[in-house]
Amino acid sequence: MPSLQKLIDDRPEERVFRVHRSVFTDPDIFDLEMREIFDSCWLYIGHESQLPEHGDYIATRLGTHPVFAIRGSDGEIRCFYDACSHRGSKLTNRTSGNAKTIACRYHGWCFNSDGACTLVRGGDDAYQAADLERMGTSLTPIEQFMDYKGFLFGCLNTKTPPLEEFLGGALPFIDLMADQAPNGMEILRGESRYIMEANWKLQTENSTDGYHVATVHRNFATTVGYRETLAPDGDQGMAKTEASRILSLEKIGSGGYNVGNGHMINWADRGNPEAGPSWPQRAVLLKNHSKSKVKWMLERGRTVTVFPNLLLNDVASTCIRIWRPLCVGLTEIETWCIAPKGEAPDARRARIRKYEDFFFPASLAVPDDVRAMEGAHSGSMARDDGWNDLALGNRTLVDGADAAAQELGVTPINSNPGREVETPFFAFWREWLERLST
Ligand code: FES
Ligand SMILES: [Fe+2]
Repeated sequence: MPSLQKLIDDRPEERVFRVHRSVFTDPDIFDLEMREIFDSCWLYIGHESQLPEHGDYIATRLGTHPVFAIRGSDGEIRCFYDACSHRGSKLTNRTSGNAKTIACRYHGWCFNSDGACTLVRGGDDAYQAADLERMGTSLTPIEQFMDYKGFLFGCLNTKTPPLEEFLGGALPFIDLMADQAPNGMEILRGESRYIMEANWKLQTENSTDGYHVATVHRNFATTVGYRETLAPDGDQGMAKTEASRILSLEKIGSGGYNVGNGHMINWADRGNPEAGPSWPQRAVLLKNHSKSKVKWMLERGRTVTVFPNLLLNDVASTCIRIWRPLCVGLTEIETWCIAPKGEAPDARRARIRKYEDFFFPASLAVPDDVRAMEGAHSGSMARDDGWNDLALGNRTLVDGADAAAQELGVTPINSNPGREVETPFFAFWREWLERLST
């Protein structure tokens, strides 16, 4: 494997930032990423609203490790490695469900929702108490498990600092989604999962990439625009999906931030914020939050990309997306629609329709994104010593906060006016390099 430093050409004084394309295709780098990033960062697991009852569970993977979170008999949510304490068989059969008793399909050992072993088949005849004691029959909890306003994260390294420290500068932007509802947010029913033939970091970049939107998603914008001319309520009401962020970007405010720890923000003013499904909550939100925070919540579309593989997206609809690396050229992506609890039926309907329009695997946007990322992966395999030059916006980058960030009371490491910039990627790649190099 070549020296990692040679793969990131970062020369701030010369305003040069380049990434060698082998970072997307080298299997040795992938193995290193699994160890140095996915085994030590806080990774998103799910939302507590997915586990309302005793025994409710969700199964996922943190890096290469299968884990599941389950609500116990005492109401607490715990997270365990998804491996039987006997001989390691994966315990969950589904990605979510309810099981107050989890029976291993291999030799029939049983566990309760708190992780204790409740049945060893063969019992006292087969094992002596001292053997069971030595073997340790309970399920193994993951090293760290924390909740931030309902968002559940796990970490497989005991030395990693607490979750809120890791989320750092991204927290105020996560709050813009988490605080959008007086009664909290909830994940809507349904699963949406697909596989992309591309490296996971292409999805990280794509999540913050404002530059591709006008090209890759022009089809989305023109299609929903045309559809709205045919709709019974014409071009008004919550059924409308605003397209100004795609078609008229030069007329609206937008920007990108590096908020530290590899987290990246991209935002753009909404052309018609009253079409957003949370707009009817504005009066209530203004009672609980500052005017500028509510402006950020309702009048600015945002992508919040949390290092390394989480996106909180509040643009056409509200969406959580994670991307789980399967191997160097294969990535599993999962999305959920998140919405305020107790939302009015009209607003909920509009939110779901817009979610389907943009975020479903067969939507008007996701297939175009996937095709673009798969193309970038394929092209990165060309043996031409190719470099991705992240030059867009490097002359407008400013240290600290711009006016919009000041309104929210946050101080990014740097800001860039205009969404069509590549400078927020610097945050990700510098964090990536630092974690792989130490
Ligand atoms: S592996 Fe689970 S009971 Fe044997
Ligand atoms: Fe996209």
